[in-house]
Amino acid sequence: LKEEALRKVDAADGIQQLKDVRVEYLGKKGPITEVLRGMGKLSKEERPVIGQLANEVREDIAQAIEVKQTGLEEAALEEQLEAESLDVTLPGRPVQVGGPHLLTSIVEEIEDLFIGMGFEIKEGPEVESDYYNFEALNLPKGHPARDMQDSFYVTEELLMRTHTSPVQARTMGLKNGSEPVKMICPGKVYRRDTDDATHSHQFTQIEGLLVDKDVRMSDLKGVLNAFAKQMFGAERDIRLRPSFFPFTEPSVEMDISCKVCGGAGCSVCKGTGWIEILGAGMVHPNVLEMAGYDPKEYSGFAFGMGPERIAMLKYGVDDIRNFYINDQRFLKQYHKA
Ligand code: PHE
Repeated sequence: LKEEALRKVDAADGIQQLKDVRVEYLGKKGPITEVLRGMGKLSKEERPVIGQLANEVREDIAQAIEVKQTGLEEAALEEQLEAESLDVTLPGRPVQVGGPHLLTSIVEEIEDLFIGMGFEIKEGPEVESDYYNFEALNLPKGHPARDMQDSFYVTEELLMRTHTSPVQARTMGLKNGSEPVKMICPGKVYRRDTDDATHSHQFTQIEGLLVDKDVRMSDLKGVLNAFAKQMFGAERDIRLRPSFFPFTEPSVEMDISCKVCGGAGCSVCKGTGWIEILGAGMVHPNVLEMAGYDPKEYSGFAFGMGPERIAMLKYGVDDIRNFYINDQRFLKQYHKA
């Protein structure tokens, strides 16, 4: 009996089979239990002998089962480790590395330059009221200059802002008419234009505004000059040409010299040696007054630039649509390592 049981233990090649063997030999209905149960019928002399023998057999079988079980468990673990093993020598799968969008980088670069000159960063809503987009900027209803900025209207009084200049009026309006203002505001703007290489119905602007006592045109020129030289290189010159914006008086457009640029950007100057990069001027007294500042005491300058245009000049990008279509072949060129 013992040998038969031990053979079966040995042959078992799974935990379940081993359990079956245990039940068969050591279980309640197994032969050893039966022998032990039948002890009452044996004589006094036979009882201890048979009892001891039965116990020994039971012990031996139980021990064999235990040894076998440990062995089976170890084998199973071994198999699992084998199946789950990692081959660290396999080549890795390449990971796509992203980077900031060129437009984001340019906006941040411009922000950093102005933060360095003590300007704060402000924001304003893209869906803007007629009041802030036009009226508070000295463009009353029916003013012919509104046509320069064809708009997307949401309702009669709400539109997608056509420039970031409404943030001038909003920022001044939040002060009490005596605090100085020194801010720039980057953001999206919208115009009803047909998209082509140099126009987009949605693009980006960065507005600048400085209001304080005794702010002069020379302050504007100094700030813009510092900006242009840091952005495009110390060898660049700037020039201010008279222009018109209803919310600034006098108004100017700023050109940067391109005669020494060589390569990227040069085709844009069309032989004049200058490229226009932004509009600016001294804040119109009406605009100051509507925002609660006394124009006799306070003055200011404002400017507005298009970061797409600046990126195009700086990197020789020839189509503004490249900024919006998310073609990785274009964008990747400007990811910094
Ligand atoms: N808002 C003007 C534009 O969109 C730019 C500008 C801003 C001009 C501030 C003067 C002062 O064309």
